Amino acid sequence: MFPEFDGGMEWGGGAADPDGIYYVNINEIPWLMQMVETRRADGTSVPSGEQDYMAFCASCHGLDRAGNPTGGFPSLIDVGSRKPREQLSLITRQGAGRMPAFDQLSDAQRNAILDYVLGVAPPSASRREEGQAAPTSMNTTPPYAFSGFRRWSDAEGFPAIKPPWGTLNAVDLNTGEIKWKVPLGEYPQLKARGIPPTGTENYGGPVVTAGGLVFIGATADETIRAFDKQTGAILWQAELPFGGNATPSTYMINGRQFVVISAGGGKSGRPAGDRIMAFALPEAK
Ligand code: HEC
Repeated sequence: MFPEFDGGMEWGGGAADPDGIYYVNINEIPWLMQMVETRRADGTSVPSGEQDYMAFCASCHGLDRAGNPTGGFPSLIDVGSRKPREQLSLITRQGAGRMPAFDQLSDAQRNAILDYVLGVAPPSASRREEGQAAPTSMNTTPPYAFSGFRRWSDAEGFPAIKPPWGTLNAVDLNTGEIKWKVPLGEYPQLKARGIPPTGTENYGGPVVTAGGLVFIGATADETIRAFDKQTGAILWQAELPFGGNATPSTYMINGRQFVVISAGGGKSGRPAGDRIMAFALPEAK
């Protein structure tokens, strides 16, 4: 699904100037939307652990759990004889090597998946009384279920498409044209490899000032930035203690102007906190 469940535009909204230019941050990240079968051909229910395995694990480890060992995806068929359950649980939660972390799964989901992988899940037939038929018409479960909200990520956890993944845009509402579009945010790991800013997933909106600046936090790199509203060039940036997943505000006290943002973080898998950060130019002497 593109753009994703979380935009295009997200709840941060945009900032509009009286001249009709609208500044708005957007996400450009693909998500996967998948239906999984909840019933077998004989009408019996597929256990939830198996459904979740199909949704979260089968793309790499195979529908049959045999993986693709030559391609680097291990078989899970006898994994219980190689590793204790606690370790499998940890790998599933934290990831390993090229395997992404699945910390979004609840403990119950993770346990049900492991039961299925280790073969301790009751076969679906045993859910019925011995010898009792389970005609399809009696099974009231819908035949398909939504497999859950998932980003489509590469093996390192980055969006599986060419960047930019998050942008700030200036849209001319008079003409419908996009005046400029620039990446919003960057990932330090990619920066260290010399990759130009990719933009990050972003939640929180911009504020535009009469002085020609667009202030925005929102990124997954704990930074607030000021952009030139004419060109989209970054004029200033400052580190935040936690992600600025909010819309900044600006106010003036005794002639001195401040920009304030709530830095609560907690989005995009980043740490959460509880700071409010205000910035201003040095006081005039
Ligand atoms: C994007 C591909 C991918 C997905 C999706 C994935 N895995 Fe993996 N998995 C791997 C790779 C690659 C490895 C090998 C990791 C390494 O090199 O250490 C692995 C390793 C494992 C191992 C250790 C196997 C061993 O022999 O030591 C377990 C257990 C495992 N995965 C379970 C799961 C479960 C359960 C899910 C679903 C919740 C899942 N994986 C989803 C790629 C994936």
